[in-house]
Amino acid sequence: MAEKVKLAFIGCGGIVRQHLDQGLKSFDDVEFAAWCDLKEENAAARREQVGGRGDIFTDARRMLDKIRPDGVYIMLPPFAHGPAEKLVIQRRLPFFVEKPVAIDLRTAKQIAQGVRKNRLVTAVGYMTRYRKSVQRVRELLRSQTPVIMHGGWIGGGPSSYVGIWEWWVQKDKSGGQFLEQTTHTIDLARYLFGDVARVYAAAVRGRKPRPKFYTIEDASMVQLQFANGAAANLYSSCSTPVGGGICLHVWATGMKAEFASWDHSVRIHLPDGEEIAIAGEPNIFAREDRAFVDSVRAGKNQGILATYEDGLKATAIACAANESMKTGQPVKLAV
Ligand SMILES: NC(=O)c1ccc[n+]([C@@H]2O[C@H](COP(=O)([O-])OP(=O)(O)OC[C@H]3O[C@@H](n4cnc5c(N)ncnc54)[C@H](O)[C@@H]3O)[C@@H](O)[C@H]2O)c1
Repeated sequence: MAEKVKLAFIGCGGIVRQHLDQGLKSFDDVEFAAWCDLKEENAAARREQVGGRGDIFTDARRMLDKIRPDGVYIMLPPFAHGPAEKLVIQRRLPFFVEKPVAIDLRTAKQIAQGVRKNRLVTAVGYMTRYRKSVQRVRELLRSQTPVIMHGGWIGGGPSSYVGIWEWWVQKDKSGGQFLEQTTHTIDLARYLFGDVARVYAAAVRGRKPRPKFYTIEDASMVQLQFANGAAANLYSSCSTPVGGGICLHVWATGMKAEFASWDHSVRIHLPDGEEIAIAGEPNIFAREDRAFVDSVRAGKNQGILATYEDGLKATAIACAANESMKTGQPVKLAV
């Protein structure tokens, strides 16, 4: 590999802008080689962000064959996953994919198989794993028995339907709020308590007048039973603009941890009134990007905390919840 790690991007929307702004654009060991988006203007906007470096494409196959990158960022909306990953896997390239890794389990399983077969380095955008607060709670849980947790994403939802909000409110494009957004909390729940065995979900609909194309649920409550016997209740709402936010409250046999807000600041309660507070750090995307770039250079995992396998498991939980919302029945997980 040359001195710099040569990166190419498939999908150049808002999340790529954030990765670049939070640190990636200043990595001096990275060559920004190419930008691919169906909307050429979005690819051009990302190129501008890094001072005009890299070529622009609207066809991922052409880009990969011409540029021959060392690693690929796949930053697509849920409904668009599958074809890009297959092109990248055929070329045996390491890739970073934003969450959620797919809108359906079939696609995620196929990609996971390709990743395993080719032993590819992968990263998934579950940046919360890289936070000090999360690492500390995980460490404390090692000597505890997990019991219950509850948390989720509560908000008012979009007030207009432009940009990402156009696809976000369509169930067949985003997969719904639980799959698309609360996926961060699904992943965190797994990271702290382990694999999930059973999912039961209730959907809340019809709370507000909506345009015809608005097909996601207004809210949902999802119950998880972990393989070790612990349980979680994860909630999502995009119809309650007052008193919401992001949180996760976790209880084990000898501790409680309260994660609050997007930065997952935590207050940990221990026996005898002892408390530990850890603030969330800014620019968290830079941490996962550093781990990915280091891993591409090394040809093996150098600090990536969420791999495609984790993306597959979070998707399996979300798809089970979607199925349960439809049938009213609990779903056993086979992944
Ligand atoms: N980790 C996080 O906290 C976080 C935050 C925001 C978004 N995301 C995730 O990132 C993903 C992308 O979100 P976004 O906010 O960038 O959306 P976006 O709509 O701003 O950008 C998506 C881009 O992909 C392009 N695109 C769609 N299909 C394509 C294809 N087949 N080939 C090439 N380009 C294609 C679109 O033209 C658009 O420019 C979503 O899955 C979202 O959940 C993650």
